[in-house]
Amino acid sequence: MTPPPVTGGEARSPGVDPEALVASAVEVLEATTTLTELDEAQTELLGKRSALVRAHQALASLEPAQRPEAGRRLNEARRSIESHLSERREEFERGERAARLQADRLDLTEVIAPPLRGRLHVVQRTRVELEDVFVGMGFVVAEGPEAETDWYNFEALNMPPAHPARGMWDTLYLELGEPETVMLRTHTSPVQIRLMESQGPPIYAVMPGKCYRRDTPDSRHIPTFHQIEGLVVDRGISFADLAGTIETFTTAYFGLDIHSRLRPSYFPFTEPSAEYEITCTICKGKGCRTCSQTGWIELGGCGMVDPAVFEAVGLDPDEWTGFAFGFGIDRCTQMRHEIPDMRVFFDNDVRVLRQI
Ligand code: DAH
Repeated sequence: MTPPPVTGGEARSPGVDPEALVASAVEVLEATTTLTELDEAQTELLGKRSALVRAHQALASLEPAQRPEAGRRLNEARRSIESHLSERREEFERGERAARLQADRLDLTEVIAPPLRGRLHVVQRTRVELEDVFVGMGFVVAEGPEAETDWYNFEALNMPPAHPARGMWDTLYLELGEPETVMLRTHTSPVQIRLMESQGPPIYAVMPGKCYRRDTPDSRHIPTFHQIEGLVVDRGISFADLAGTIETFTTAYFGLDIHSRLRPSYFPFTEPSAEYEITCTICKGKGCRTCSQTGWIELGGCGMVDPAVFEAVGLDPDEWTGFAFGFGIDRCTQMRHEIPDMRVFFDNDVRVLRQI
């Protein structure tokens, strides 16, 4: 630091300029960037060899009458420098404390990357998209309860007690026997019955929802899963209407290079019945591990509504005709997003879910 001007006292002036001392001290303090530098600056500004001490010593060379005033001004300058110094020290200490806190901070949030906005689970998004496709084709959306009675889940669907087909749908019972057997529904087909009971034909409806089975989870099965049911009841409905509806849906949802095919099958509530398959989305029909080299993936079942079902809900099978279908929403999600193992949907690893 340049020492303050000592003017030699020709004019019997104090010889030092206390304001200049303060001003240059402030400059020195402002140039410091760390507490260590500040300690050094303190020695330089107030220490034995400082300009301030030299100015005090220079007081001796002044006229005795001028000394008290010059001394007072120098003391004032010292106090001012000291207060600037402690202000600067506080500033550094505050900064250091903040840095230490920041470094010690425990990050308890799971993800740091912005933006942390929620969104619908991919299976729910599929459900909404499927609904949209069917609504676009003129269908309405209906829903039914997940805890269902034996009547709706089995009996009205042409599966009387002890019918062997019930074996395909092993489930979890909530109430057994009188007054009514209640279970977690094994499929969305009972909503067909509820719809036919509550409103007359014509019916063009899809019914999405959760279903339950005592299945062992594997890459393509989970015990709690989602289905979307379809039901059309009107006059003069044919199997061609069913096949056309299924194909229209398939290309609308999966894309123009994916097609559907129906293979003869059996369901107690449809006659004839078919299995609904689509081109394997992984290999585009060429044959791969996922589709067991067949080029096709099964999505669900369908068929013409069995006359026994119409009778169960009091509709005349000679007057009304219809088709029904039901397929897995989770399976659709898996196919659409080419996911090898369905269980990732429910492991709830947000890192995975965020990618889909
Ligand atoms: N409910 C059947 C199941 O879960 C799927 C099904 C097959 C639904 C044929 C239908 C149908 O509506 O007509 O396996």
